Amino acid sequence: MQRVLSGIQPSGIPTIGNYLGAIRQWVALQDTHECLFCIVDLHAITSFQDPAKLRAQTLEMAATLLACGIDPARSALFAQSAVHAHVRLGWIFNCIARLGWLNRMTQFKDKAGKDREAASAGLYVYPNLMAADIAAYRATRVPVGDDQRQHLELANDICEKFNHDYGVDFFPRIEPLILGEAARVMSLRDGTRKMSKSDPSDQSRINLTDDADAIAQKIRRARTDPAPLPSEPAGLAERPEARNLVDIYAGMAGTDAAAVLAEHGGRGFGAFKDALAGLLVARLAPITAETTRLLADEAHLREVLAGGAAQARALADPIVAHVERLVGFLA
Ligand code: TYM
Repeated sequence: MQRVLSGIQPSGIPTIGNYLGAIRQWVALQDTHECLFCIVDLHAITSFQDPAKLRAQTLEMAATLLACGIDPARSALFAQSAVHAHVRLGWIFNCIARLGWLNRMTQFKDKAGKDREAASAGLYVYPNLMAADIAAYRATRVPVGDDQRQHLELANDICEKFNHDYGVDFFPRIEPLILGEAARVMSLRDGTRKMSKSDPSDQSRINLTDDADAIAQKIRRARTDPAPLPSEPAGLAERPEARNLVDIYAGMAGTDAAAVLAEHGGRGFGAFKDALAGLLVARLAPITAETTRLLADEAHLREVLAGGAAQARALADPIVAHVERLVGFLA
């Protein structure tokens, strides 16, 4: 059985971008793969997080993932900081990755913004820790949204250089699993920017915990252009906002853009937005209700995470201990 690992930062409430790009794949992969899902709190603090808020958001993330269908009986769900193997291997990878490689990372450039000198060193080496998250389990499949593609290419470069430098064939190749539809959900306010749980504007995204009123209001206000919907996907070229809403609809309905346009093409955005809001409410209402139910029992959430961490440690500790011997540490 192939081993899957993926992660999500507890830096806010997950959005439909996280859901469509990653979480819905995670849920499906549990049927066919050995799965590890990691709430990456170490990655979250690469930008300052209020400690009480970080704790609360980690529990909220666990509740939301369970509500989406992550099943702790089949998958290990845990907080990254609880499994020290990630940091141990992360340091070794800091010594493998080249500055030139990190300098090419577009996500660092985006997140650091204009004042790069003020970014944390952690933000800079973020992709090395991400490579370690995967390699600590020698996982081969990584379900993510399109924005993580470059990080996974770097992870393969790091693993290959490690194998080469130490003359071993230890780390396997990592295969990104990126869906065709809605692998990059864009902001509702700007079709050229990614929808993000850490965007300052709540109007830019649909959170998995938004209620029916919030969803209807955000979709109604979502930016669009004046033309009606085309009847084929080719007609979405140069229309990023229209494409985004069609992709969201397709992702949520489990179909593709062509099928959505065959049904809704020719209509104005008013009617389409009503249909989209209705679909989102129908899909998200059960997730919201289950998240609320789970959040009422913090002890249970902590127990699930502790169980997942124990499973993860049992897999990662021997792998990273082996790597430490390969590197030459007295062990
Ligand atoms: P994060 O927390 O930003 O996002 C979690 C997952 O959601 C996907 N995603 C999106 N997909 C489509 N459209 C969007 N607008 C959108 N926004 C986010 C992301 O691609 C991701 O799959 N670096 C990672 C976390 C991480 C990780 C790992 C992932 C740490 N270690 C190891 C895989 C393997 C991140 O910041 O995800």
